[in-house]
Amino acid sequence: MFTVFQVCETLDISRSTLLYYERRGLITAVRNPANNYRLFPQSEIDKLRAIKLLQAGGLSLSESLSCLQGKLTPGQMHERLSSLAEQINRLEQAYSILQALSGVSSSEKSRNWQQNFERQTPETYFNWLKTQGFSELQALQIRWISKDMTGNDDYTERFYELFLNMRRQGPGDSTLNLEILSHIDSHEQIKSILDMGSGTGAGTQFLVEHLNANITALDNAKTFLDQLSKWVKSERLEDRVSVIDASMLSPPFKEKQFDLIWSEGSAYIMGFTNALKTWKPLLSDDGYLFITEMCWLTDKPDPEPQHFWQDAYPEMSNVATREQQAQQAGFELIVSKTLPQSAWDSFHQDMRNQLQILRGKRGEHRAYDDSDAEIDMFEQYAGQFGYQCLLLRKQ
Ligand SMILES: C[S@@+](CC[C@H](N)C(=O)[O-])C[C@H]1O[C@@H](n2cnc3c(N)ncnc32)[C@H](O)[C@@H]1O
Repeated sequence: MFTVFQVCETLDISRSTLLYYERRGLITAVRNPANNYRLFPQSEIDKLRAIKLLQAGGLSLSESLSCLQGKLTPGQMHERLSSLAEQINRLEQAYSILQALSGVSSSEKSRNWQQNFERQTPETYFNWLKTQGFSELQALQIRWISKDMTGNDDYTERFYELFLNMRRQGPGDSTLNLEILSHIDSHEQIKSILDMGSGTGAGTQFLVEHLNANITALDNAKTFLDQLSKWVKSERLEDRVSVIDASMLSPPFKEKQFDLIWSEGSAYIMGFTNALKTWKPLLSDDGYLFITEMCWLTDKPDPEPQHFWQDAYPEMSNVATREQQAQQAGFELIVSKTLPQSAWDSFHQDMRNQLQILRGKRGEHRAYDDSDAEIDMFEQYAGQFGYQCLLLRKQ
């Protein structure tokens, strides 16, 4: 027979736990006739040992008891198994989230978590990236260049070099843009334009040619802006075109400063609805906003593009939704057109030519292979997604 103290020592449990087990009827003590103290036979200790083992196997106290008494049915066991599997899954998820949060690794699970985070609350996601030590520039580069949180500087630098030598940094179409401009009531009304995410200035140059307005080109890539500034100088346009190194998330301008904001291939970087909300105050009354927005053009995309865009732009949507969101954000929809395939073809041809030149000069690099793979994917699934060009008027 064993005393309370001995049982607690043997099983490494507290006195109160032992007495609780006794109260629950799991074990029964006999009384020492000399002093009325509790005594436990070996069989009770064995029973408690078995219960501890079953608990370690994931059963609750009463389930362990039922199990010992042969009352636990196979159905109950299966139920317990699936609830354990669920707990393990939750724990693994928590583990990879913590890994991502602490920058330890970028596993498949943590990428899924990031995509979910970004899709559900893009603004909070970017703020979170900043708390993780990413500058805003890096945070947004993850969106438009390096899709990998752990992507290194060399990888990113290769993309900038590639884009710097291209005619434009995203696809665009002058003929379509001219048609878009024809929907603006009076060109005289457009005196001040902001080219948001101008890159090296494909849009700025088009606007200089077709509208008699002052243009501010904003981008956060210094190399692109340096190239644009050179062009401005060579064309002696300093009094019409200013070039600003700033963020499209917090553009440094006065309210109602612009009659037209021009955003080709840039709004998605901060998210469509976020862009509408942030940029609207900069527009004069009845001012125009032109956005080309990456959209699904089919209800049933193939898995490969689905996977690609899940990674690159988790909140990507379809045209109808974007048009509706623009109206909800206080804009009138003036015209909505899909960028033609020919614009993609010439963009990709330009990219291919530059890749060939860079490979010749600098040798092979993962960034070039990734670019090839991206072109192939875009060509293979052409028509399933693309830029929708939306001309909106502030209401
Ligand atoms: C797809 S390119 C489009 C460039 C140009 N509009 C065109 O169509 O050729 C996107 C541009 O947005 C710029 N960008 C990315 N993040 C930005 C940010 N936070 N603020 C300002 N510009 C940004 C990039 O440097 C790049 O020039």
